[in-house]
Amino acid sequence: MNAARALALVLLAGTAPAVVCAQTAAPVWQDTRLAPEARADALVRAMTHAEKLQLVHGLFPPRANPAPADMIPSAGYVPGIPRLGIPTLRESDASLGVANQVEQRKGDVATALPSGLATAATFDLDMARAGGAMIGAEARAKTFNVLLAGGVNLTRDAWNGRNFEYLGEDPLLAGYMAGAAIDGVQSNHIVSTVKHFILNSQETGRTALNARIDETALRESDLLAFELALRTGKPGSVMCAYNRIEGDYACESHRMLTGVLRGDWRYTGWVMSDWGAVHSTVKAAAAGLDQESGQELDREIYFAPEKLDAAIQTGKLSEARLDEMVKRILTGVIGSGLYDHPTPTTAQPIDYAAHAQVAQRVAEAGMVLLRNEQDVLPLAKTARKIVLIGGHADVGVLSGGGSSQVRSVGGAPVEIPLTSGAAASFARVTWHASSPLAAIRAKAPQAELSYVDGRDPAAAAAAARSADIVVVFATQWTTEAQDVETLALPDQQDALIAAVAKANPKTVVVLETGGPVLMPWLTQVPAVLQAWYPGQRGGEAIADILFGDVNPSGRLPISFPKSADQLPRPKPVVPAGLNSDAASDAGAGDGSTLPSWDVTYQEGAEVGYRWYAAKNIKPLFPFGYGLSYTSFAFDGARFTGGAAPTVTFTVRNTGKRAGAVVPQLYVTGPDKGTPRLAGWKRQWLKPGESVQLTLAADRHALARWQGGRWKIPAGRYALALGTDSASAATMQAVDIPAGEISN
Ligand code: BGC
Repeated sequence: MNAARALALVLLAGTAPAVVCAQTAAPVWQDTRLAPEARADALVRAMTHAEKLQLVHGLFPPRANPAPADMIPSAGYVPGIPRLGIPTLRESDASLGVANQVEQRKGDVATALPSGLATAATFDLDMARAGGAMIGAEARAKTFNVLLAGGVNLTRDAWNGRNFEYLGEDPLLAGYMAGAAIDGVQSNHIVSTVKHFILNSQETGRTALNARIDETALRESDLLAFELALRTGKPGSVMCAYNRIEGDYACESHRMLTGVLRGDWRYTGWVMSDWGAVHSTVKAAAAGLDQESGQELDREIYFAPEKLDAAIQTGKLSEARLDEMVKRILTGVIGSGLYDHPTPTTAQPIDYAAHAQVAQRVAEAGMVLLRNEQDVLPLAKTARKIVLIGGHADVGVLSGGGSSQVRSVGGAPVEIPLTSGAAASFARVTWHASSPLAAIRAKAPQAELSYVDGRDPAAAAAAARSADIVVVFATQWTTEAQDVETLALPDQQDALIAAVAKANPKTVVVLETGGPVLMPWLTQVPAVLQAWYPGQRGGEAIADILFGDVNPSGRLPISFPKSADQLPRPKPVVPAGLNSDAASDAGAGDGSTLPSWDVTYQEGAEVGYRWYAAKNIKPLFPFGYGLSYTSFAFDGARFTGGAAPTVTFTVRNTGKRAGAVVPQLYVTGPDKGTPRLAGWKRQWLKPGESVQLTLAADRHALARWQGGRWKIPAGRYALALGTDSASAATMQAVDIPAGEISN
């Protein structure tokens, strides 16, 4: 029965209110006063069976055959149903900007934000929201309406090739930052995902990995990050991951997709698969997967109409479940505003100059000054001879590889194709056109400025010897689909830095890395700036910080180890008998061809700084750490207990420059476990200025997962105020009564 006939029958039967709004005679699904779920429900009832089947599987544009006329190269495409106003879903990766991997859309550029870790390092929700809003605006203008963004897997392993896309090791920081970024994306009336649900904690072997972890620990770590991101960002969709969790593929895990997501969290949007992550029809659909993405990447099209029909006819899947899948997709589409605000069908102009400012602000606020002996930074603009070494700093800044790759405004001055490895088909080592050399020249126009590529340490040292100041740009390229094999800087850059530092004690190191690296030369250099992958205005941001036009204020969202043996896993875990190339795939493969192999996350919820605290070891740089060109003093801290514990204190800028301070509140429970970040605030202060601040402890930092719910155990808690996870400036015990957090 077609929908028009169905509608006529409904009207004749006198049941109009179910489908048509009594006052306006418009279909119920257009009634914006109703909840998205009710509208979605009405739409489902107006759809034909064939239309429903059409929405639950999507094309992978590079391989779709035949290709719909309005499809452009990107990650995904699901044809819409115009007669009901259901939009075609046009999906793009968007972790750091509107992606365009291996320049699949020739000449199409977008604004590239710094890496996720840089955004997380701002400890500033407004900054994350602004980044998301910028990406969403560009996506919409490019006709995309479903953004594969919101990566919030906790950074459990320092060598994870994808850490740069994520938001660090703390579930509260990562969860709230992801929520803000998603909210920013969706403020453009388009859908954002949150991904990769769940425990896609490493890239090498990601399709074969069977993640094992204690249930309580999972609730208090990775799941908590997702829970907070969902609660605050309200993404239209959740992307399930490649890996298995406790034996089931993440996209077939009834426990996760139905038990946790739908049941405990009452999530109403849809679950889409990662690309190439579906392995069955009945098991996946029954577990709670609503949509197969990039279907050409799966071994079979598991959610093809004939397969779902066969499952329904043989009673293995109910028609009601199909309805529910469609309803969830439509709930996400309506809830994000996309249904009521369709995206344009042709590309619209974009204010790239304004968006570049967003990228630059995040870069400036997210860079972390790790070391600054004898105030070697900021540099004097009167320096006469400056030598820059390495990292292609003459032309640009490095970016991370994989599906998040943005082809940024200005193009790619250096782009190196890969000849082997799991990422070879969809990643190239890419620099954004933001030259530190040009930006530094603009700061110190009278200086004699030169660039040496750094491939020959002796030549670099010779060039450095007579300089007033030397800046070495050290790089570590990381990518989706493969983890780095070591935390050491690649290509003998440690030797380069040591040689240059020996030749000239005024050597500053700027790190453009995916995450933590080892620094055997640390004590030989007076200054180190962690610039992450700084995005398409990274060169300008680096120069602003080096010369003091911007006071560094980023704080580490991930601990930096002294050596890899400090970590829960002392080296990357690669499945036995398989080399890392074979064990990985770029999402184009089917993990079921590889034997499943277990990785037990025995650190549980003690991720990152909590691991160091549990083991009583000191990292190289702790979570939350970062220096400034000014200094701050804390005074008069007063802690309160009770149901809503707080600390109130005064903080004063005691130095000569304006700058931001990020006081952090940590709590340790009565179980005497390890401290948890419970609150923070990024505060800007002029020289001499002081302010009274109150940090409230987030109840999720107090709660424990007990007996299937969040409970706050009564007892004596330690509250600590500090500027990083390892230094508690002041500390006090307070009593907190028992409580619960309702789902
Ligand atoms: C990645 C996802 C991405 C998808 C589509 C996968 O390889 O894991 O994060 O959204 O590809 O490009």
